[in-house]
Amino acid sequence: MPNPLDVFRDNALAGHVAIVTGGGTGICRGIAAAYARLGADVCIVSRKQDVLDAAAAAIATQTGRTVLGVAADVRQPDAIARAVTATVERFGKLDTLVNGAAGNFLAPAAALSPNGFRTVIDIDLNGTFNAARAAFEALQRAGDGLILNISATLHHHGTPLQIHASAAKAGVDAVTRNLAVEWGRFGIRVCGIAPGPIADTEGMRRLAPPGEVGDKARAAIPAGRFGTIDEIAAAAVFLRSPAAAYVTGHVLVVDGGHVVAAPPLGMTL
Ligand code: COA
Repeated sequence: MPNPLDVFRDNALAGHVAIVTGGGTGICRGIAAAYARLGADVCIVSRKQDVLDAAAAAIATQTGRTVLGVAADVRQPDAIARAVTATVERFGKLDTLVNGAAGNFLAPAAALSPNGFRTVIDIDLNGTFNAARAAFEALQRAGDGLILNISATLHHHGTPLQIHASAAKAGVDAVTRNLAVEWGRFGIRVCGIAPGPIADTEGMRRLAPPGEVGDKARAAIPAGRFGTIDEIAAAAVFLRSPAAAYVTGHVLVVDGGHVVAAPPLGMTL
């Protein structure tokens, strides 16, 4: 399969500066690497400095570009504000904020503690607002700002064991629409990406481990396969690019058709 990032010209994002929360691992590390590969200056943010250092080193090896890693918990507004300041001090401005920091686990609602529910809302939803609020002035100054919120498709249905993450991501989609309306006049677009089942991620290791469960999950995807991190990164590059200059308030589902496939009721193709 060709690498989806190959369709973008070299240095397509030269001169851009991006912060990617959750950029130490998984999909958001892939987005950070794609932005760096295309010439952007990138700051990755997560709670653990050692994870950030390893990711920054790997991206530097892969792309030849230095990546800044700033440890901050998106639940702490002051901490994420410091990460924004550090990025602007280092790179001179901020064009793009990718809100990818998220926490999740499988838990039946009847056994989920209020603190467990609150913790996921606090990371995914409140963290998205905290980072957006912290980045607002810098994005406005940039003149062509983008906030890209990483969502999910869980909340398009009543996904079992995922009440906390579903509620959080439903809220994230509301933030996407609302900020698009309020901040469009400041030259800031606000979009989302809702990844479906993506291989080589912590989420899929938990939700669909290799074997019978993984095979059943794959069979439920019209595309017949899990997606790749680079396919999500390619969507993130598109939404950052001038090709998406008139796209705002939209959450792009990238899931091989998974969420539109109705449960089969015994019928098979
Ligand atoms: N099942 C049920 N409840 C859980 C849980 C699980 N697997 N994991 C955490 N919780 C609950 C805790 O029990 C606690 O509630 P309590 O005080 O009532 O017991 C609450 O969530 C907070 O947990 P804690 O571990 O103190 O929070 P944290 O801020 O350190 O980390 C997460 C929270 C969600 C980030 C943590 O589960 C985690 O590190 N997950 C792995 C990373 C991850 O989620 N990656 C994203 C994959 S999509």
